[in-house]
Amino acid sequence: MKTINDLHRNQTGKSSDKWASYLPVYDRIFLPYRDDSLRLLEVGVQNGGSLEVWAKYFSNAEKIVGCDIDPRCGSLVYDDNRISIVVGDVNAENTFNEIRARSSAFDIIIDDGSHRSDDIFKAFVNYFQILKPGGIYVVEDTHTMYWDDYQGGVLKQTTAHSFFKLFVDVINYQHWQDDLSIKNLFVTFFPIKNIPSFLTEGWVEGIEFYNSMVIVRKSRLASHAKLGERLIVGG
Ligand SMILES: C[S@@+](CC[C@H](N)C(=O)[O-])C[C@H]1O[C@@H](n2cnc3c(N)ncnc32)[C@H](O)[C@@H]1O
Repeated sequence: MKTINDLHRNQTGKSSDKWASYLPVYDRIFLPYRDDSLRLLEVGVQNGGSLEVWAKYFSNAEKIVGCDIDPRCGSLVYDDNRISIVVGDVNAENTFNEIRARSSAFDIIIDDGSHRSDDIFKAFVNYFQILKPGGIYVVEDTHTMYWDDYQGGVLKQTTAHSFFKLFVDVINYQHWQDDLSIKNLFVTFFPIKNIPSFLTEGWVEGIEFYNSMVIVRKSRLASHAKLGERLIVGG
């Protein structure tokens, strides 16, 4: 069985653009989903090749949806009728509605779109809610979070990267001893009343940071009590 690393490096169809370090990470995180009849959304289609690679890797996938703001992506033609493209700004309401019309929920969402901090943040807030329980949300090319032109900056507390760093505390909310709520934690990003319920209800299962990549896992059940039983075994 070919890995994503093999499939990407030997891609002969439409062009796909991924950094080498992403491929083994994808192979590791996607392996348990490989045979599933899943639904995948990738934001950022460009030349269209990555959708072909996902379709080859997930041979039982039900739907592979791409979204791109560039109207030229609307002319891309695929032999594989599981692949379709929605043209539009991922964070525009009509694009969101069109994507949901293709599928009301996805198992895997990959944001390889504009790489601008505000777009990454808005896309996550909009689309994490239609990630299925147990699903995976990936943001690619987060090196831009260090670049001024993409609203980034190492010490800036308002970047999408700073937003994701707070998830370390959300995941461990069950152990907080101070009289603080998750709403207080995110006050830089949301007025207290408008915090998305997936943050307060305990839908964030885990987060992984790599050079230029962020991976967020959605819990199977909404709960902050994630530690589970203490299992003391043996003599
Ligand atoms: C890095 S390319 C995608 C590469 C592709 N995923 C691959 O692996 O080969 C980024 C794409 O995101 C698109 N894009 C930029 N801003 C966007 C937005 N707001 N909504 C949807 N797509 C956007 C661009 O038009 C561009 O084609």
